[in-house]
Amino acid sequence: MKKIFPIVYFFISCSAAFSQRKLTVYAGKPVASIAPTMWGVFFEDINFGADGGLYAELVKNRSFEFPTAMMGWRQTRSSYQKGRFLIINKSDNSSNSRFARITINNTEGNYSLTNDGFRGIGVHKDKQYNFSILARAEKPTNIKIRVQLVNYAGKEIGTTTIEKIGNSWEKYTANIVATDSAQRGKLNLIFEGEGVIDIDIVSLFPRDTWKNRPGGLRNDLVQKIADLKPGFIRFPGGCIVEGKDLTNRYQWKTTVGNVDDRKLLMNRWNVEFPGRSAPDYYQSFGLGFYEYFLLAEDLGAEPLPILNCGMACQFNSGEVVAMDELQPYIDDALDLIEFANGSINTKWGKLRNDMGHPQPFQLKFLGVGNEQWEPQYIERYKVFEKAILSKYPDIKIVSGSGPFAEGEYFNYAWNELKQLKPELIDEHYYKPPGWFFSNASRYDNYERTGPKVFAGEYAAHSKDNPEAESRNNWESALAEAAFMTGLERNADIVRMCSYAPLFAHVDAWQWRPDLIWFDNLSTVATPNYYVQKLFSNNKGTHVVTILEDNKVVAGKDSLYCSAVIDKQKNELIIKMVNNAPAAQTIELNLDGIKLAKTDAILQTLATNDRYSYNKLSEPDKLKPQEKKLPVRSNKLDQTLLPYSVTVLKISYSVK
Ligand code: AHR
Repeated sequence: MKKIFPIVYFFISCSAAFSQRKLTVYAGKPVASIAPTMWGVFFEDINFGADGGLYAELVKNRSFEFPTAMMGWRQTRSSYQKGRFLIINKSDNSSNSRFARITINNTEGNYSLTNDGFRGIGVHKDKQYNFSILARAEKPTNIKIRVQLVNYAGKEIGTTTIEKIGNSWEKYTANIVATDSAQRGKLNLIFEGEGVIDIDIVSLFPRDTWKNRPGGLRNDLVQKIADLKPGFIRFPGGCIVEGKDLTNRYQWKTTVGNVDDRKLLMNRWNVEFPGRSAPDYYQSFGLGFYEYFLLAEDLGAEPLPILNCGMACQFNSGEVVAMDELQPYIDDALDLIEFANGSINTKWGKLRNDMGHPQPFQLKFLGVGNEQWEPQYIERYKVFEKAILSKYPDIKIVSGSGPFAEGEYFNYAWNELKQLKPELIDEHYYKPPGWFFSNASRYDNYERTGPKVFAGEYAAHSKDNPEAESRNNWESALAEAAFMTGLERNADIVRMCSYAPLFAHVDAWQWRPDLIWFDNLSTVATPNYYVQKLFSNNKGTHVVTILEDNKVVAGKDSLYCSAVIDKQKNELIIKMVNNAPAAQTIELNLDGIKLAKTDAILQTLATNDRYSYNKLSEPDKLKPQEKKLPVRSNKLDQTLLPYSVTVLKISYSVK
């Protein structure tokens, strides 16, 4: 009894704070259409999002192209005479100029190379793994390579053998079945025999990849994106587009064609934060622009590539290309459109066809620059705009307003860009939760005539603790939900939105919060993810008005609301966010619709603990609860739990 009393007292005293509120939803009067692209995803190779994450390759530095050629590899031997390696650099300027030469004099198999993977190699018991290696032996040799998967303790959990290595480069493949799971396994290449062999592109992939594509993407991570039903996918970032300097910028042409020929590049997040440095973070581009387009197609999402506009990161080098040398950057944009949409008789359309996709990817949107600011951006942007629109007038250009949500750079960009022809202006806000709550009406009075808004990167940054996932707490998700009611209410001008960043590896992150956390075996959806999902899976087709005392509901007494209808499904969907420590009872008046005789669906995401979060070891602490609710009258009472997001979906009849 003693224990229960304070809890009961808390609810009685808190719920006493609010009297019942009356809200009216004008469901029969749609005020704006909602873009199919309204809720999408932002993907960047940050936090091991691509290499070590979405791109399912398990071997790090598979082709010895890291500047430190043996990074990720270790040799074990009893003596120099028994075995050694050399890294040979062909100096042929190819993207894969290095390979390893192994000399062994050893029939007992005690010379080995071990690859550590990306913070270990994750394998699942009973699953199959595709191993491959390029090898040659210039002179006949009896060398065999025993390929061994081991767990963290060194116990063998899978093996195969490669033998009869010929005298010219050839790809040898084998299948390994894991006899046990390992989170931080390793791959051993154990060399037996006598002689010299050369090896390159040592690779291990799960057989079960997304859509079972060999050399493809990690299934569980793609599934998490697919479950969001995103309207678009923005790629490849973020700051990665800019690079620390121009040499380090993202160049899509080096990311297409034969995977083995794609030129490695340092990942800018390798060195960005000294406290979170990742010296082994490189971009192999196994996940390149072709694969991004394919992913967008798989997901039914619009592809939204963002290209470098001749400017490196202004927070880093601030390097810009001279105006009279901008043409190659412009060509990259025009050629990308040809790659995506061009006939297979064009140079770049042919490459798409050669890669396996004769049909165009139907690219509609193209981003020019990421977080650029001041006149150097605008003058470059203008050249891009002119070149793109004169050749491809239907392409919708996404421009940027810089890294800040307001202030000098932001105002300057908007003032300039609204005199030009971007379809959308990208706005970024990484702010404390309080900012999101108090900016829920940010767009209510925005100019309606100029370019539309792309809320391209946002996340509420709340407090954290050493645990990786801790910054994705309920307070941050609740704040985003409140803000998103404002985005939805203003869907006439806000046409695209994406939380950022999307992925983070718990052992290899540089930036947090992030929407989805993962390790080498599993993933966890954050509360923020569930908020995104509640909105994107209940997107609707048209905004309808929801008012209290003839005013929008955007923060008065901690309540935030928006409403949409789905004209295809005949559904009214109401989203309500209660940021109060007490429950609130709402009288909802549904104006302008005739109810269908089916039950409504009520989804609730709530906890009294604002700092609670999901983690890999406790993935289901916070997730939406769903139940059916009989709604038989156009007037209904709904209790909103303390600190909650509620989505109410009501079917209506059109007869
Ligand atoms: O999302 C992480 C980074 O934040 C992006 O790369 C960049 O655009 C922004 O500054």
